[in-house]
Amino acid sequence: MDGVTVIDHPLVQHKLTIMRKKETSTAGFRRLLKEISTLLCYEVTRDLELTVERIETPLTETDSPVLEGKKLVFASILRAGNGLLEGMLELVPSARVSHIGVYRDHETLQPVEYYFKAPENLNERLVIVVDPMLATGNSSIAAIDKLKERGAKNIRFLCLLAAPEGIRNFKTAHPDVQIFTASIDSHLNEKGYIVPGLGDAGDRMYGTK
Ligand code: URA
Repeated sequence: MDGVTVIDHPLVQHKLTIMRKKETSTAGFRRLLKEISTLLCYEVTRDLELTVERIETPLTETDSPVLEGKKLVFASILRAGNGLLEGMLELVPSARVSHIGVYRDHETLQPVEYYFKAPENLNERLVIVVDPMLATGNSSIAAIDKLKERGAKNIRFLCLLAAPEGIRNFKTAHPDVQIFTASIDSHLNEKGYIVPGLGDAGDRMYGTK
């Protein structure tokens, strides 16, 4: 699918299968989420630009590659996005973190922002927006709207599972944002759950219901 990268690494696929199982415990789900998010982070950053830095090894001077540009931003869509942060920050400890909270107003059906915090100079940074589930796409679309309003220009979206309906909505709103996902599932059910999916990602990682 255009504009969508499916991360088909065997370890990612294996861990995802265990996460989908209804009998996987909260502790197991959380541990797997941390492991899988590290692998997803590796893939979503695979083509970052490098520059060279003059360094001294114990033997000699040499030009050696380092990441170019300002520190990355990981933008978590509350609350389930937070589950992806730990593994990603282990791989990129210097990344800045943004938190974005949006809910849908029951009357207007419009997304309402209730929390937004991000580092400065968003326009000069790569922003990787994270949310485990791309279902209808409404919250990720709204979160990216908010980031763009604050100047973000270079944005990627990372999730675990995506529904085809959500991808279509997302791409209509933000055709410039590449989606990275471990799986494109079959469809959304009438309650907005991804099928076959893994249930409610927030509930599964935090043990709520
Ligand atoms: N959010 C979830 O946590 N799970 C779904 O299946 C859809 C949205």
